[in-house]
Amino acid sequence: MTVNGNAVAAEVADRTLLVHFVREVAGLTAANVGCDTSSCGSCTILLDGQSVKSCTVLAAQADGREVVTVEGLAGGPDGLHPVQQAFRAEHGLQCGFCTPGMVMAAVSLLAENPRPTEEQVRSGLEGNLCRCTGYHNIVRAVLAAAGAMEEMEQR
Ligand code: FES
Ligand code: FES
Repeated sequence: MTVNGNAVAAEVADRTLLVHFVREVAGLTAANVGCDTSSCGSCTILLDGQSVKSCTVLAAQADGREVVTVEGLAGGPDGLHPVQQAFRAEHGLQCGFCTPGMVMAAVSLLAENPRPTEEQVRSGLEGNLCRCTGYHNIVRAVLAAAGAMEEMEQR
């Protein structure tokens, strides 16, 4: 598969989950395993541009496909994606455990709906749990990122 633009190939057991492949074979440890049962969203990554909970996908199902993790997002002038910048600016994180998954879910949400309402952000992120923030600043960050990305497009 391609992970953040790089080809990564390995023989793995049939039961290997994509999140374990990404963490242990590709060596990218931002996607976290919070629950292993598709409840928390901390393992969210993009698979062919769609957000998936990578604990619910077998590595073999990603064979030949394109994976993007939060490590592959950066690239802006200060090295951060607008969603990452907005999470920082709006204090959308505390311990940070949920953040890589939350950011990837937000990136996917904004790709599908570049100008979401607050309600749409809340419902778009309902599969991602945060034990720290109370969600308020996360929602503000996603709305701020939407505004920043729209401005960048208009330039
Ligand atoms: S670890 Fe995948 S949803 Fe919780
Ligand atoms: S910032 Fe701690 S779980 Fe979300």
